[in-house]
Amino acid sequence: MGSAQPNDIDHILLSEEEIAAKLDELAAKIDADYADKDLLLVGVLKGAVMVMADLSRKLQHTKVAMDWMAVSSYGSGTKSSGVVRILKDLDADLSGRHVLIVEDIIDSGLTLSWLMSNLRSRGCASLEVAAMLRKPEAAKVKVDVKYIGFDIPNEFVVGYGLDYDERYRSLPYVGTLAPHVYEN
Ligand code: IMP
Ligand code: MG
Repeated sequence: MGSAQPNDIDHILLSEEEIAAKLDELAAKIDADYADKDLLLVGVLKGAVMVMADLSRKLQHTKVAMDWMAVSSYGSGTKSSGVVRILKDLDADLSGRHVLIVEDIIDSGLTLSWLMSNLRSRGCASLEVAAMLRKPEAAKVKVDVKYIGFDIPNEFVVGYGLDYDERYRSLPYVGTLAPHVYEN
């Protein structure tokens, strides 16, 4: 059960097996779309670490490089601040590159829409997004996400890279957090 107390998780939304099967599907699509191209995967720290590790290892026909960016849109709580700041920028020069942003979750969509216009301005040949999870609120912001794992209800979730106050990232599944954890 990783670092979670069993009663911290209210219920499991997506099992390890469901996540793996979905990543197989996404990887097959990405492989077909980028076959024999050079693709730069841009992982958004820290939440996308698990998706990046698992998705990238399932790509069989795409030549992959990885880079990482850290932005902040949330504090330690569960609500969006609406403010995006670059904490760590990319090492790679994006000009002429095919870039695929790898995200853990799209909630308000604020982080992603900001990130897309920021990266697009650096002259990539193409820019797409792969996100593991999407919440309903994201529909309100116009962001074009080509590869989406699961649409989930508007609940706060943890696991598979997602944290609450830096905890629960190592859980192999995605689960909802029991209210008593954040009501304390
Ligand atoms: P957005 O800007 O509202 O789309 O928020 C995106 C970021 O907020 C994600 O990359 C996560 O780090 C964080 N986030 C949003 N919803 C959740 C959640 O349910 N659990 C954990 N982190 C979340
Ligand atoms: Mg977070």
